[in-house]
Amino acid sequence: MIINNMGGSSSSTGLCLLLSLLIHSSIFFFVASQSTTAAVEGTVFINGSSRIGRTNPNFICATLDWWPPEKCDYGTCSWGRASLLNLSFYNFFICSTFPAFSPLKIRLGGTLQDKVIYETQQQACPASFIKSSSEMFGFSQGCLPMSRWDELNSFFRKAGYNTVTIHFPLSARAAVVFGLNALNGRTIASDGSAAGAWNSSNAEALIRYTVKKNFAIFGWELGNELSGSGIGTSVAPDQYASDITNLHDIVRRTYARFGKRMKKPLVLAPGGFYDANWLTQFINKTPKNSLQVVTHHIYNLGPGVDTHLVDKILDPSYLDGGSSPFSGLQGILKTTGSSAVAWVGEAGGAYNSGHNLVTNAFVFSFWYLDQLGMAASYNTKTYCRQSLIGGNYGLLNTTNFVPNPDYYSALLWHRLMGTKVLSTSFSGTKKIRAYAHCSKESQGITLLLINLDSNTTANVRVSTENAITVRTARRHHQNRRSKFTRMSSGSKANAHAREEYHLTANGNDLHSQTVLLNGKVLAVNNTSGSIPLLEPVQARLSDPITIAPFSIVFAHIANVTVPACK
Ligand SMILES: *[C@@H]1O[C@H](CO)[C@@H](O)[C@H](O)[C@H]1NC(C)=O
Ligand SMILES: *[C@@H]1O[C@H](CO)[C@@H](O)[C@H](O)[C@H]1NC(C)=O
Ligand SMILES: *[C@@H]1O[C@H](CO)[C@@H](O)[C@H](O)[C@H]1NC(C)=O
Ligand SMILES: *[C@@H]1O[C@H](CO)[C@@H](O)[C@H](O)[C@H]1NC(C)=O
Ligand SMILES: *[C@@H]1O[C@H](CO)[C@@H](O)[C@H](O)[C@H]1NC(C)=O
Ligand SMILES: *[C@@H]1O[C@H](CO)[C@@H](O)[C@H](O)[C@H]1NC(C)=O
Ligand SMILES: *[C@@H]1O[C@H](CO)[C@@H](O)[C@H](O)[C@H]1NC(C)=O
Ligand SMILES: *[C@@H]1O[C@H](CO)[C@@H](O)[C@H](O)[C@H]1NC(C)=O
Repeated sequence: MIINNMGGSSSSTGLCLLLSLLIHSSIFFFVASQSTTAAVEGTVFINGSSRIGRTNPNFICATLDWWPPEKCDYGTCSWGRASLLNLSFYNFFICSTFPAFSPLKIRLGGTLQDKVIYETQQQACPASFIKSSSEMFGFSQGCLPMSRWDELNSFFRKAGYNTVTIHFPLSARAAVVFGLNALNGRTIASDGSAAGAWNSSNAEALIRYTVKKNFAIFGWELGNELSGSGIGTSVAPDQYASDITNLHDIVRRTYARFGKRMKKPLVLAPGGFYDANWLTQFINKTPKNSLQVVTHHIYNLGPGVDTHLVDKILDPSYLDGGSSPFSGLQGILKTTGSSAVAWVGEAGGAYNSGHNLVTNAFVFSFWYLDQLGMAASYNTKTYCRQSLIGGNYGLLNTTNFVPNPDYYSALLWHRLMGTKVLSTSFSGTKKIRAYAHCSKESQGITLLLINLDSNTTANVRVSTENAITVRTARRHHQNRRSKFTRMSSGSKANAHAREEYHLTANGNDLHSQTVLLNGKVLAVNNTSGSIPLLEPVQARLSDPITIAPFSIVFAHIANVTVPACK
């Protein structure tokens, strides 16, 4: 069969968006299904004077990891065949969910990446990742056969899937960041730190092979969680800076030799946990222009086995605490005068593979979307979610590849939130999290509002500073003293002036792996394999935005123009 509604190009994504914008769904208005008496009034203030951050157009990124099926945590083995060595792309759902983001940014890496050897003509692949408790990270060395590298790249890169019964006319088009083996050539000293320089010869062979094959790589990243005090072991900042200089030279030489037909990939590092001293030294010692992206990882909820994960996710002050690495790194990039930008290279929330029915359930969208909002507001350019598939935190179910709720959260963000980030604050209750961006590929602004409260509905008004709306523009110019403009107008023309996307858990169960959009279940059509249209409901500008208990709302307001979005 031919699946013709998911061509995978950005134009088809655009078409889907356009379609959903054009559908005036005046027939059904979303009604909060929860019966609740409590309500609170609140106001979201948006300062439209200037933007506070600017993300990459493909801010949403997800990871694929090396963990083999034998990787287990607390007695649960949650990786299945999701390893980069084992994942099969000839799957119905992975072929339909991928192109929705086209191009989806994918970061290939994780703990075991530093123990991977790349097959070369001189060095054939031995068996990979044999479980062994005496080895660092619990596994022996791994190896990437070039036949597998070819296979991965052909999936990431180009069209054409033919199986006996299914023909997928799609181009997956991922922007791939590959994490290189930063422990190669080093020895582990008696204090547990890694000593010596990175032996780059094997990585250089992989890069040369990749260029020769004309595989497009978006970035080469060096190392995984070896910065600061490190996981397993660590590398000193001055050594890391010299290794990055080496990597940058290899990338420059290799891509220069093979001509201009290929864009030079980014160099990224160190892919570790935020550590102010280590990062400051590292950035200061790295020659300017050798490093384009500083990557860091986020697991701020603690271990997956923690039984209080949901309490933390629903606690506004706990979520607020999550902003410190973003603001810290933003400060370091500023004070060091670095030209590098910040990315979250890997974020799974709860380490050791997450927690089943928490990090792959509806409740995790509270944490995930809040993280996306915060990261963007501190000028983070890209945010890579651990994982696309694998562990208990996949955007897709590890065994049947069906999208988990966070997949749809990510997709709504991708379609609605533009690159320009607006300064946003909220008054009324601490249980509402509020973010605003200029809208993506359309006029106006888009709000993201998250209600962490179990039984209180929030009725939210929007105030924008320096906004110009059709009706209020004149008054605004007459009265400079009150620069905040409350959007309120009884005008009939204002009907359908706001599009809303309400996300709630199926059956009001926070642990559900099914999410409702405007009261309707979101599910991939398992006949056609296509993902559902994400259709908004229309609301009047004069009405407050109603945010049901334990719900998430994206609200697109086309008829407001702020200077920051021009
Ligand atoms: C809301 O829930 C809190 C505890 O979660 C409870 O104390 C309060 O009475 C509830 N309010 C309503 C109106 O049900
Ligand atoms: C809005 O942002 C501008 C520019 O950053 C700033 O000068 C102004 O004070 C802000 N307004 C408010 C009310 O915070
Ligand atoms: C995973 O891939 C490795 C390396 O190719 C292979 O040896 C192993 O048998 C595979 N395991 C599964 C469960 O597919
Ligand atoms: C790096 O590794 C290669 C291949 O294993 C080896 O031939 C070479 O001698 C090593 N280089 C250094 C400087 O140790
Ligand atoms: C995948 O989906 C199946 C069927 O809904 C479910 O039983 C299983 O727990 C899910 N697995 C994960 C890791 O979420
Ligand atoms: C909203 O903006 C659209 C164009 O973007 C315009 O056609 C429409 O008249 C505006 N409506 C109101 C109520 O301002
Ligand atoms: C297809 O989806 C329907 C409804 O979601 C479900 O009942 C059915 O089991 C699915 N079929 C397969 C083959 O997964
Ligand atoms: C699923 O796709 C098939 C084939 O395109 C279509 O006939 C069917 O109506 C779709 N089902 C739903 C529920 O949209």
